[in-house]
Amino acid sequence: MRELHFITSNSGKYAEVSSILSSKGIPMVQRDIGCPEIQADTLEEVVTFCLDWLGSKEGAYLIDDSGLFIDALGGFPGVYSAYVFKTLGLSGILRLMEGVPDDERTAYFETVFGIGLGAEKLVFRGKCEGRISHEVRGEEGFGYDPIFIPDAGDGRTFGEMSMAEKNAISHRGKAIKNMMENANRIIEMLNQS
Ligand code: IMP
Repeated sequence: MRELHFITSNSGKYAEVSSILSSKGIPMVQRDIGCPEIQADTLEEVVTFCLDWLGSKEGAYLIDDSGLFIDALGGFPGVYSAYVFKTLGLSGILRLMEGVPDDERTAYFETVFGIGLGAEKLVFRGKCEGRISHEVRGEEGFGYDPIFIPDAGDGRTFGEMSMAEKNAISHRGKAIKNMMENANRIIEMLNQS
């Protein structure tokens, strides 16, 4: 069977995903390759564009992209979540949300995983609905966790939850579960001659 090359520079993410996929008999290796960037509105477009670019190379690839989409801001920061976190930061997002009433603070996190071999692709998604808090709360997790209150929780932000509590309801947890439920399709792809 071919190895699945997971393109990520984040070793923590690699460790988490590869331990789960390996338990299903999927051999993994970490690769740090930068995909060319595109202007896109959705994570799926970003992932598909990168898989198309990788499609001309030898091997099977796994990539992922995640983001926070805030309804009152027209889906911002969305596909720009990583950049916006580094520039505006949590305080900048809370400033943009100043004066937005509770019932209009809805948002969701989304993760898209894509697996590609040549022109063939498999895409798996996970979504977590919630709302933006009025203040930064909690020190767990990373990124936007301290300002996101998941609907499936008890009113705490992701930043106030343990990793296990977050993973049980998170966008990434759901996308990984979706990928696991389709492990046989991934194995079929990797076994192709
Ligand atoms: P990535 O595609 O997983 O690197 O995610 C892109 C950006 O979205 C990250 O740099 C974070 O700012 C944000 N993000 C993604 N997932 C999460 C999460 O689970 N919690 C908080 N922020 C996240």
